[in-house]
Amino acid sequence: MTSAFLHVVEQAAIACAHTMGQGDRHGSDQVAVESMRTSLDRVPIDGRIVIGEGERDEAPMLFIGEPVGMAHAKQPEESGPFPQVDIAVDPLEGTNLCATGSANAIAVLAASERGGLLHAPDLYMEKLVVGPRSRHAVSLDASVRDNLAAIAKCLGRSVRDLVVIVLDRSRHEQLIDDIREAGARIRLIGDGDLSAGISAAVRGSGVHAVMGTGGAPEGVLVAAAMRCLNGEVLGRLVVDTPEKEARCRAMGITDMARVYHAADLASGERLTFAATGVTDGTLMKGVRFFGDGARTSSLVMRTNPHRIRFIDTIHLNDGSNTMVRF
Ligand code: FBP
Repeated sequence: MTSAFLHVVEQAAIACAHTMGQGDRHGSDQVAVESMRTSLDRVPIDGRIVIGEGERDEAPMLFIGEPVGMAHAKQPEESGPFPQVDIAVDPLEGTNLCATGSANAIAVLAASERGGLLHAPDLYMEKLVVGPRSRHAVSLDASVRDNLAAIAKCLGRSVRDLVVIVLDRSRHEQLIDDIREAGARIRLIGDGDLSAGISAAVRGSGVHAVMGTGGAPEGVLVAAAMRCLNGEVLGRLVVDTPEKEARCRAMGITDMARVYHAADLASGERLTFAATGVTDGTLMKGVRFFGDGARTSSLVMRTNPHRIRFIDTIHLNDGSNTMVRF
């Protein structure tokens, strides 16, 4: 099944990479969604989208609750029974990044046995993402200064050697001031706190933490990645209106102030995480086209068995004269 999920994200990345730099973020997203929807129906599962493009009315495809997989395909290639699987998708994480040809746009999904991914409403989430060595040392209730000091200690370096990624948003003015005052280095990004979070858990990426508020669905997806990479994400939903509280309650969330850990957001025993680069990024290259095909770079991870794979795939069309380059 892992290779089927890999195929799903590869195809979505190839589809939307054709629109790179066209300045049409919705068009790029739509192409990725259509591709992912089609290829998910070839995966031998009885799947259900738990995080997707939004609610049914506003999202024609890959909406929350939508059944996907071969069990629901019009003409299934195999007969069941198929395993029940919950799926979180972000067919194009970083729609603006793709539309402008900027770094770190990815096509991504996470899958688990039923009930293993939090049903998160499409709200903001306050997040703190760190790698394996600092995962027990940070708290969402601690000050930025204390968290940075704790991360630095765990990594055996000084605070001024840390790199923290923060989404470049006005809501983060105070956070940015606090990080600067503590003395750490900052990388401000236009979009894509999910890619940033994955990097924070990979040694050698040059990223030591991601701080700030971004999408809750990205929080669940990064949690699935952290479960595989032994990192940590701490997250707290931003529930600042009665309407948002009602949406949370409708999804079974009763404690609005709860701090979630990776193991709460992605609690599944058998998690799969798959992402393919759309544009060039820290961990994955973007899609490269060469006339007779395309080359993709992906990250596929599982918790059980615990495996991390960086996969370089050459997708050939039917050009029998194509020469493969190393
Ligand atoms: P899209 O892929 O939906 O464009 O989201 C990109 C993103 O930057 C996420 O990485 C991040 O979590 C969220 O948007 C932040 O939301 P906002 O742009 O509203 O600050």
